[in-house]
Amino acid sequence: MRFSLNIDHIATLRNARAEVQPDPVTYALMAEQYGVDGIVVHLREDRRHINERDVRLLRELITTKLDLEMAAVEEIIQIACDVQPELATIVPEKRQELTTEGGINVIDNIDHLRETIERLHNADIAVSLFIEPDINQIDAAAEINADFIEIHTGHYANAISEEDIFDELEKIRIAAKHAKKLGLGVNAGHGLNYINMKELIAIKEIDEVSIGHAIIARSVFVGVERAVKEMIEIIRSAK
Ligand code: PXP
Repeated sequence: MRFSLNIDHIATLRNARAEVQPDPVTYALMAEQYGVDGIVVHLREDRRHINERDVRLLRELITTKLDLEMAAVEEIIQIACDVQPELATIVPEKRQELTTEGGINVIDNIDHLRETIERLHNADIAVSLFIEPDINQIDAAAEINADFIEIHTGHYANAISEEDIFDELEKIRIAAKHAKKLGLGVNAGHGLNYINMKELIAIKEIDEVSIGHAIIARSVFVGVERAVKEMIEIIRSAK
């Protein structure tokens, strides 16, 4: 299992004072030194954290891979085609939300998403669709030539009772297996942390996890090196 780090909230902190520190690009380069497999940023339409300067500098400077989370809207599609990240992860986006609240409905937006994937493919960008662990959504993603799905793990992360945790984990396991059978790459993310990752790593079909808030928050207390390495250690402990 690979581990990509989402650095949006370093930009949130920077933007709190509209100054240059802490710089998300510097943070990304440090995280790469400590072993992350990729850097993820969400260029939101309202630019609440990551901005275009960050994306372009990351494109130039990082040596792992860039995953650009984005809404399938014209302005951002054009920027993506110009910047050419290795991966574009399409997410639903609402202005009022604090964070992405759930997966995109591929079935209801199939024509627009098919066209968006084609445009991104023409710019040599692999495409992932952030979706719920739902077989019908996965089938639709495969039908329109997505390269990856990213399974929304938010419900698993929010589950409290043992029974709910088991049920949510089972949904993710079934979805990941189904996607693999269809030839899709399988990513997973949202709400993952140092505790809930310990069970998720048992799902071998997950190629990569995308984790942000938990790592950024821990690095405030223990530093970037330890926060990143502790997560890598958990992932490597998978049997
Ligand atoms: N994956 C997607 C599609 C997301 O939108 C986010 C949040 O930006 C993440 C992963 C990372 O979530 P978290 O910050 O809760 O680790």
